[in-house]
Order: sequence, then C-alpha cells, then structure tokens
Amino acid sequence: MKAVQKSFRRWICLEIRIADKAGFCFGVDRAVKLVYESLEKGCTVTLGEIIHNPDVVSDLSVRGVRVVEAVDQIRDGETAVIRSHGVSAQVCRQLEDRGISYIDGTCPYVKRIHNIVREKSESGYIVVIMGDSEHPEVQGIAGNCINEPVIIADDRGLTEFLKKNNGNSQKRLAFVAQTTYNINMWSVCKKLIAEYIGDCEIYDTICSATNDRQNEAAELAARSDIMIVAGGKNSSNTRKLYDICKRVCPKSFLVENASELNMIEMLKGFSDISNVRIGITAGASTPAHIIKEVKNQMSEKLQNMDEDFNFEEAIDASFKRLYTGNRVKGYITAVNNTEAIVDIGTKQTGYVSLDELTDDPSLKPADVVKVGDEVEFIVLKVNDAEGYINLSKKKVDAMVGFDKIVKAKDEDAVLEGVVMSVVKGGVLASTNGVKVFIPASQATMRRDEKLEELVKKTVNFKIIEVNEQKGKAVGSIKEVLKAEREAAKAKFWESVQVGDKFKGEVKSITDYGVFVDLGGIDGMVHISELSWNRIKHPSEVVAVGDVLEVYVKDLDKDANRISLGYKKDEDNPIVKFENEYNEGDVVKVKIVSITPFGAFAQIIPGIDGLIHISQIADKRVTNVKDVLSIGDEVDAKITEIDSEKKRISLSIRALLEENAAESDAE
Ligand code: F3S
Repeated sequence: MKAVQKSFRRWICLEIRIADKAGFCFGVDRAVKLVYESLEKGCTVTLGEIIHNPDVVSDLSVRGVRVVEAVDQIRDGETAVIRSHGVSAQVCRQLEDRGISYIDGTCPYVKRIHNIVREKSESGYIVVIMGDSEHPEVQGIAGNCINEPVIIADDRGLTEFLKKNNGNSQKRLAFVAQTTYNINMWSVCKKLIAEYIGDCEIYDTICSATNDRQNEAAELAARSDIMIVAGGKNSSNTRKLYDICKRVCPKSFLVENASELNMIEMLKGFSDISNVRIGITAGASTPAHIIKEVKNQMSEKLQNMDEDFNFEEAIDASFKRLYTGNRVKGYITAVNNTEAIVDIGTKQTGYVSLDELTDDPSLKPADVVKVGDEVEFIVLKVNDAEGYINLSKKKVDAMVGFDKIVKAKDEDAVLEGVVMSVVKGGVLASTNGVKVFIPASQATMRRDEKLEELVKKTVNFKIIEVNEQKGKAVGSIKEVLKAEREAAKAKFWESVQVGDKFKGEVKSITDYGVFVDLGGIDGMVHISELSWNRIKHPSEVVAVGDVLEVYVKDLDKDANRISLGYKKDEDNPIVKFENEYNEGDVVKVKIVSITPFGAFAQIIPGIDGLIHISQIADKRVTNVKDVLSIGDEVDAKITEIDSEKKRISLSIRALLEENAAESDAE
C-alpha cells in the first residue's frame, strides 16, 4: 500500500493558465460600473439582476441596491438602472410616464440590435430573432419591434419556419441573433436562410466578445487536462462556455466561486498527475476577483497536499459507499436489449435488468430509460469482488407510488388505476406502479354487477386503508361513485325546473305508478300520467328497463320529490278526435256501456260518445238493452261536439232517417 502513496508536492507542476478574455465583457463591465456610480445619487434599483452572478448581486444588495422585476415595483424617488440585456420600448415608456429617472446600461451592441429591429419593422419587414425566447435580451429585442417578431431557438425551428414561409410571405424577412447566440449554430442558420430564401436581410449581431471568449476557451480547454469555468450557474453564457470546454476537455468543471473547487473530484481518473495542465476561463458576468480567487485557491490546495497524501485512498473515499436497500440516483450510461448500465458515482458499475426496470413484458429497456437520464434506484446487491451493483428502478417506482397512495389517503384524493384481475374477495387495481386491493363490496354500486366486467377498465377509486409497513393498500371504487352521484344530485337539484325534459330508465313499477332514474335521482310517473286511456296497472304501458322520455310536472326540493309526466299532448285522444272528426260525420262505433238513458260507444280509443235512448232507433225504445248490447259495432252520426264539456252526441236514428228519406226520394 505504501508503494502507491504519492507526494504531490513533488509531482504537481503548477501550470494554471487563465484565459485572457475570461470574465466581464465590455458591456457588463460598463453596466456594473454604472450601478456602482449611481449609488452616489441615492436609492438605486436594477431592473432584473444587473448580471447573473450571485456574488456581485449580493454585494450590491448590501449597499442598498434593490432588484425589481417590473416598473411598478419602483418607488418614487428611486433611480433605476437598465442592465446590459436591455429592455423593451414599452418599459422605457413606463419609466418616462412615471417620471422615474433611469440610467440606461444597455450594452451598445444590444442597442444596435434594438435599432435594427425597430427600423426594419417600421419598414414593414418581419423580424426573425434567433435566440432563446425566455432570455431577457431577446424579450427586450422583441419589445423594440413595431410589429410581432418571430423568435426561433435553433436550426430545427428555423427549417420549419422557412419551409412554411417559403414563397408564401408577402413581407421581407430580417434576421438578427441574440448577442450570445452560438456561433456555429448561427452559421448553420445562415446557410439554411440562403438555401430557402434569397431575398432577405441578415444581420450578424453575435457579440465578438462572446465569440472571442468561446474560441479562446475552446483553445485553452484543448491544451488543458482540467478546465475550470467560473461563473453563475444561471448565466446562459457561462453555461455555453462550459459546454464548449466540456466538448474539448472532458474534465471541465463549472464553479460559481473558489469554494466550489473539489480537488479530489477534479483529479479523479489521473493515473499520472505530473504536469497536469489546468485552464481557467469565466463567463461574461464573472468579476475579476472571483477568477483570481479560483486561481489562487487552486494553487494553494495543490501546494498543501503534503507528502503523506494518498491519492488513491482519497479517491476511494470520494466514492459513495452503498449497501443493499440504499436509495441512490444515477445516470444511464448505456442501454442494451436486456439491461441498462448506470453510473451511480461508485467504484462499481450499476446494472439494472429489464425485469427490475418495468413490470410490463412488452417493453424493452430502451422504452423505459435512455442514455443520460437521471434515475433513482434501490440497491439490490453490491458485489465488491466483481465490481458491480444490481439495481432496481421498479422498486423505487413502487415506493414513490406508495408515497402517492399514502398522500392520496391523507388528502382523501381520487386515484386513477386499471383493474388488473379478479382475486378472491375483490379485484386488484394498479396505480402508480402499486397494486391496490378493492374488496367486492367496494368495487361496484350494486351487488349484482359482475367483477369480471371491470378487468382492464380504467377506474377511479379512493384509498380507504393503508398498511405502510406491509406496503398494502385497500381502495374503494364505490366511494367515488357515491360521491359522484351525490355531486350529480346536488347539481341536479340546483338546476332542475318544472318543464325540464329527461330520458330515464324505468327502475321499478308499483300499482300507482313507475319510478324513473333520471341519472342518480328517481322521479315518479303516476299511473294517470302514463296513458290517455284508462289503464288498470302501469305494466299495461311500460316495463322495467324501458327508457322513457319524461318531463318534470312538479317539484318538491325540500322533500327531494319529483313528479314526472309522460303522456304527450299530441297523443291526447280529445285533440286527435277534434283534429279528425266533425259534427255530421258518420262513424263506426263500439258499444262500451249501457245505461237506462242510452249507450256509450267508443269512437276512437279514449273517446266515447253517448247515443241517447231517443237516438238509438227510428221508433220508440223503452229499454236500451232491447236494441243494443255491449260489444256491438254500429254506424252512428256525430250530431254534436261540445268541446267545453267534452261531450259527444251520437245518433243511429238520424242515420236511419236519412237513409229512409234517401230511399223515398229514389
Ligand atoms: Fe455586450 Fe457583448 Fe457583453 S453584447 S454585454 S459586450 S457579451
């Protein structure tokens, strides 16, 4: 072991080079100076953070500089500083309208773009801005266009736009780029523009500071073993710089300041660290003192590694130690047909087999994860001797899923799941990767419903019982259905009006009427409302399961009672009779009852007329039954229709007399 101990004092050659163009660019330097100068004028606010660097922002905050996001947050008497990104024309107008004095820290290069887009849009061009639509600089540029500009992020978006507009646009296009736009991407975009449209204007607006810094960083990174990029992690130009360095020098690190330097991490993987070359660059918003501090601390840390420092042990110590059951995050580094390989920051390689990735037999590893994904796992087995760790994603999914189930129970929330199978006493539903048992009594609203019909269906249920130790949960579909029914009822009662029409199924029949389900609420159709004809029992007209079109006749919201009507006016036999028959018509009628003063005869179902005893024959009749019997069908003349009293008079005699007169005439 002693043999591998290494003295860094002897081995490390301190070649640390700082890029000439690291740190504040001209525009940022100018804006920051303007803020510090403005402190003398009293209260100062900046519209957004003056630069994306937490150290500078907090230093300014200590000096009383507030950061505001909008003009209406500025107090009277405060002086505002516009940062180098610039703002829209509307923001400047707002400041002026409120009489707020402001110092314009917009970088002159950005100002140039504002002028281009204003002028071009005023001349009727459509301005196309290549950049990040969320970036304040791009929003400021867009806000200086007179008409709506088009903002496109990359070559893919540009190709789509160009294809769509190829030859269609009535207006000419003017292209500009965000000052920090990637120079290579801009070249690709320019080629695409030339390919699709000849007649347009392209302005090279990428700031040379960015270009120079990026080129220099790439060159330095290519000559370095370790590259450090110093700058705010939310600064887009710093991140771009880091990406460029990382492509050339895989051991590139992004740090906000010197405190984030991790020598062990940086030196990991070097078997021979003599003559390690270190390069440092920094984003446009990184102050010089941070760059200096990074360099000084680097040298100091390397110098302080004494002769007893054991690099391998230190690297070993920097690795995580994992044990079975640990929960760990890792990055997918490769995926094949049977497993995924994972970097979990340990000496050992992590493997996750297909059956530990998913329960779904139709999926392959690549359907579940892809290279670069950050995924959480449970350690199944650590094999130090062979240098691998078996992992399970499925178990984490189930744990995460179970947490959701516990939360759903606490919050009485409704979960969605799929019924997988019928089991003894109920069904199993799957939700969030967890199986939930739903007892038969909680699976349906009615006992006679078949559980098999639920299989493979998506259902909503509530969790009614959880056993966290055993990882088991019991659910209820019925509770959700009941709640839905209650909600529907409440809604129904809120809105229902007399006269509303519904379609409903006959649920039950009694001697006095039928109950119709109006969607969770039952209404009753009284027997007298079922038919215009006289019926003895509702079953003469309807059967259970029939769907009826009904309307609300009467409501008692306090007693939750609804009386329904079913008979339709157009079926009313009186209406039918009046439409089809007139006084003087001769009709075939059927004797339905006999009284001492005459016989009642049915003209059409539901409409009877009276043949008075004096009208039964052309001679005197003393007893109706001598001439007519129930069931006889005879011809009679309608002699009177009294609509008001709903009385119809019939006469056989009139008909006989008419016939006799006609015979005499012949
Ligand atoms: Fe200006 Fe270029 Fe800096 S546009 S703000 S000098 S990166």
